[in-house]
Amino acid sequence: MSVLIDRSDHDARRIIRESIDETIVVEAAAGTGKTTELVHRVLAVIREGRAEVREIVAVTFTEKAAGELKLRLRQGLEKERQQARDATVIERVERAIQKLEEAHVSTIHGFCADLLRERPVEARVDPLFRVLTEGQSERLFREAFDAWLQANLENPPEGVRRSLRRPSRALRPGEADEDGPIERLRRAAFELAQWRDFRGAWTREPFDRAAAIAAIVDLVHRLADISAKPSYSGDNFFIDTAPVRKASRDLKAMPLDDVDGLEACLIELHRNRDFKRRRKGSGSTARDRRVRRHLRAHAAALRPAAGRALRGHRPL
Ligand SMILES: Nc1ncnc2c1ncn2[C@@H]1O[C@H](COP(=O)(O)OP(=O)(O)O)[C@@H](O)[C@H]1O
Ligand SMILES: [Mg+2]
Repeated sequence: MSVLIDRSDHDARRIIRESIDETIVVEAAAGTGKTTELVHRVLAVIREGRAEVREIVAVTFTEKAAGELKLRLRQGLEKERQQARDATVIERVERAIQKLEEAHVSTIHGFCADLLRERPVEARVDPLFRVLTEGQSERLFREAFDAWLQANLENPPEGVRRSLRRPSRALRPGEADEDGPIERLRRAAFELAQWRDFRGAWTREPFDRAAAIAAIVDLVHRLADISAKPSYSGDNFFIDTAPVRKASRDLKAMPLDDVDGLEACLIELHRNRDFKRRRKGSGSTARDRRVRRHLRAHAAALRPAAGRALRGHRPL
């Protein structure tokens, strides 16, 4: 049975210190005393002889926090040794101080590595394995990814093929391309590698990409046609729909069966800042208003449609 406790602060602290037979989950903001009470709890476990120090596991996320926890535990034990009157307690505390280095007070990944080192045969790992630093693991991943990409470039799988066709986005004009297709693929692969323990299959919703793209291309041409004749050329809507007319010209120059190329062009349009902005424009005649309503409806349909063309795989 589990009981949700929401008592006074004092009670909560006392429960953490004293109820060493209960399993407790404590949730509290930074600096409220979690580490302090955790140290008290560990001291109580040792004082009462419930466990040897090497049987205790106390894990944190960062090396810094783990170091601090160990230090505070040592200080707590020293203090306990000085204050204790009971000979059994003094003996327990002294043994704990001697064996403190055997305690699993570490980061969670450090603890996992300790477990694997203790039982390499069962875990089927090299007993001499080392844990990579983050920098090392990124370098290793980069090597593996580059080798994989080289091997696949000749006959790229669909995802690579489509990604390579997409426009790259330099942060500023003239700057080195920070978001080129290969860097983008590498980041996606790195992200995927973080989930490598999930072995389930991936799926994709059935999606007729060619048909969806053909429909959007048609929409682009229609919007380009009807937006081409503004009542005056300084009209904001006319200016902001210029990328649509450019896309329409580009699309017409492409073979219709080059679906990846059409897709790349639509994605560029989808990301275009002017097209995203789509200011209303002005104009007073009834014809202007009618045309503009028509245009806005088209433009409004176009952006999400172009976005849908981006859709790809989803985890099952
Ligand atoms: N009950 C308390 N009353 C006053 N100060 C406390 C109390 N418990 C802890 N502190 C002090 O508050 C500070 C933060 O405590 P700490 O245990 O590191 O918090 P947390 O682990 O939740 O971030 C420390 O300086 C600690 O000595
Ligand atoms: Mg803390």
